[in-house]
Amino acid sequence: MGESPFLLACRRKPVPHTPVWFMRQAGRSLPEYLRLREGVPMLESCTRPDMVVEITMQPVRRYGVDAAIYYSDIMVPLKAIGVDLDIKPGVGPVIADPIRDAAGLETLRPLIPDDVPYVTEAVRGLTGELGGTPLIGFAGGPFTLASYLIEGGPSKNQDRTKAMMYGDPALWNAMMGRLADLTIAFLKVQVEAGASAIQVFDSWVGAVAPQDYRESVLPHTARIFAEIEALGVPRIHFGVGTGELLGLMGEAGADVVGVDWRVPLDEAVRRVEPGKALQGNLDPAVLFAPWEAVERRALDVLARGRTAEGHVFNLGHGVLPSTDPGVLARLVDLVHEASAEH
Ligand code: CP3
Repeated sequence: MGESPFLLACRRKPVPHTPVWFMRQAGRSLPEYLRLREGVPMLESCTRPDMVVEITMQPVRRYGVDAAIYYSDIMVPLKAIGVDLDIKPGVGPVIADPIRDAAGLETLRPLIPDDVPYVTEAVRGLTGELGGTPLIGFAGGPFTLASYLIEGGPSKNQDRTKAMMYGDPALWNAMMGRLADLTIAFLKVQVEAGASAIQVFDSWVGAVAPQDYRESVLPHTARIFAEIEALGVPRIHFGVGTGELLGLMGEAGADVVGVDWRVPLDEAVRRVEPGKALQGNLDPAVLFAPWEAVERRALDVLARGRTAEGHVFNLGHGVLPSTDPGVLARLVDLVHEASAEH
């Protein structure tokens, strides 16, 4: 397992080929996924180890990716500690009682492993099925979780979230502290059950300016990565629209910084401190263009990725729902073949 190209690249060691996996590879457009999920709500499917194992394995079998990502959602740990929420198809997470004051905050209790026995069971099952393919555990970053809890659902401008961050730092830091604890506890459950790497998805943190990130987000995220370091697995840190934050995201302490499609990887190398690998960053929308365009862009990502100390090929954000699985399979082959020649 230590020799897997994915883990080697995360550790900035030489690789036989550039490893590739896709954010949101599990549970999107695959017909075998849609069949399995028929009549089962999203959050319920996350609590059924047999379904989690099968859905996590589907893209590994189909595409031959170098890593599996655990099928779950960033909202699962919140649900597990009793937050009343749902994931509405086509909308996203919706919170029944948004948290906007100190009383609301008291409902966010610590997570213990017994809250998520299905995670331990599914991860154990997966490490058996996966053989040498590493499993990536994940959790939401504190800004992104706070944004769903405060706004009550998806938000374009994060206005209430930023109002709390700017206007009530004590409440904001208390909330971010609890969410960081939740993320640490949830990541520990996954790694202790056998996950070989973890990714923190702080998807919406790109809404924040660098000085506010440094003051109001970084201390919490840095604590997450510091606590996970002792577990000895590579740590990946990703957000969308974070071009101006890449340096600070590196400082927060992950081993691998995820880059969205807006910043070329050679430029990201200049923005992130030495001693980090990079992950990314083909625009997921390119997969809807003719194959020649996909190939040209993917080879460009590989070439720029060679300037990094380690490169894990990925999309610049998650697989879009109507992506043709055939194109993803072809892309995996291209990345493997083109990078093995170097
Ligand atoms: O990456 C994977 O393949 C593993 C599974 C995974 C899911 N969610 C399953 C899911 C992962 C890693 C996530 C992370 C997640 N969830 C993020 C961070 C990643 C990112 O895309 O930035 C965020 C912001 C969420 C919150 C969330 N959950 C959203 C925005 C949505 C989409 C709503 C929609 O239908 O458009 C979900 C639902 C969700 N999470 C689905 C899946 C398979 C779809 C549910 C369904 O089809 O019923």
